[in-house]
Amino acid sequence: MSKPLTIADLKTRARRRVPKMFFDYADSGSWTEGTYRANEEDFAKVKLRQRVLVDMTNRSLATTMVGQEASMPVALAPTGLCGMQHADGEMLAAKAAEEFGVPFTLSTMSICSIEDVASVTSKPFWFQLYVMKDRDFINNLIDRAKAANCSALMLTLDLQILGQRHKDLRNGLSAPPKWTVHHGIQLATKPFWCMDMLRTKRRGFGNIVGHAKNVSDLSSLSSWTAEQFDPQLSWKDVAWIKERWGGKLILKGILDEEDARAAADSGADAIVVSNHGGRQLDGALSSISMLPRIVEAVGDKIEVHLDGGIRSGQDVLKAVALGARGTYIGRPYLYGLGAMGKPGVTTALEIIRKEMDITMALCGKRDIQTVDRSVIAEVGF
Ligand SMILES: Cc1cc2nc3c(=O)[nH]c(=O)nc-3n(C[C@H](O)[C@H](O)[C@H](O)COP(=O)(O)O)c2cc1C
Repeated sequence: MSKPLTIADLKTRARRRVPKMFFDYADSGSWTEGTYRANEEDFAKVKLRQRVLVDMTNRSLATTMVGQEASMPVALAPTGLCGMQHADGEMLAAKAAEEFGVPFTLSTMSICSIEDVASVTSKPFWFQLYVMKDRDFINNLIDRAKAANCSALMLTLDLQILGQRHKDLRNGLSAPPKWTVHHGIQLATKPFWCMDMLRTKRRGFGNIVGHAKNVSDLSSLSSWTAEQFDPQLSWKDVAWIKERWGGKLILKGILDEEDARAAADSGADAIVVSNHGGRQLDGALSSISMLPRIVEAVGDKIEVHLDGGIRSGQDVLKAVALGARGTYIGRPYLYGLGAMGKPGVTTALEIIRKEMDITMALCGKRDIQTVDRSVIAEVGF
């Protein structure tokens, strides 16, 4: 098989290796998937400015996100059930990110636990928090993240109620898979995935099992979310979480200027302009099209990050040019992980780095810190 050259190549390979219900879980948006598509499509509307006869030597992509060093302005986004794309997925992805010098964010809904990831990494990673009704459990999660030396807490604000993803319902998504004919057929066609999965003991929600009370049906993500996530989450809760955590705080899921202003007033260190990868409010605008307005509203008060639809280094460069200090990738690394395990995550990061580096040079820039609106020829939205 030839070497993957693009994120799309990794996606093709992941589709071959990962059971349908988990591949579809990654490759899906809510309802019509219109916002999921818009996230990618709107990047193509931003056109870059080609420059020539500019010194292109000694290029640097190094930057910081919430004051922490990153070898390029890309972090791994939190993704639930990452350990179902590949056995021990979160541990593998965290190690790949650490070696590459970019932040890794562990989801509350991960398969490997905070402690599992801490046991295989030597640098601090970030932890993403979903707020549930059981506040003792949340306090305990925050304390576990502190004990594991996590260096930033990312509070996700846009999933207190789950947007319906038709594919998950049709596939009967569950973790671990159920012993039904439907699931059996999906697994039987993916022997390599199954062999790896049989070798690990991590097949449930590692941060939750054994820690949360009254969890009646954890295998079904949708029923568990409906039962446990707190639909009354408010800005007051952001204040106590900030207080309890006491470290760098990133608010994820901001897609509106008014919310961005409230986030800046909350004293958080950064916001992530995000629509959850098109998995929540179908019909919302793409992240990249909202970025300039949000940067305009709060860019001088708080660090602005972006995720959603990044599939290349060109996309990262465009986001940085439009004011993002950093970006996150979700599906691109999940496809790499599903396709090839840890080397696949590294490959995804390498593809993006190489594309970004060459694109930056062709735009006449040598240092990502100097990339700004001047590299954009046209914003087509
Ligand atoms: C399979 C999958 C699971 C996700 N799980 C979480 C999660 O547990 N917590 C969270 O804050 N965001 C979650 N997200 C959203 C990502 O953090 C991120 O916002 C999104 O993937 C960015 O879009 P992209 O996949 O186009 O890069 C998930 C996304 C995907 C694709």
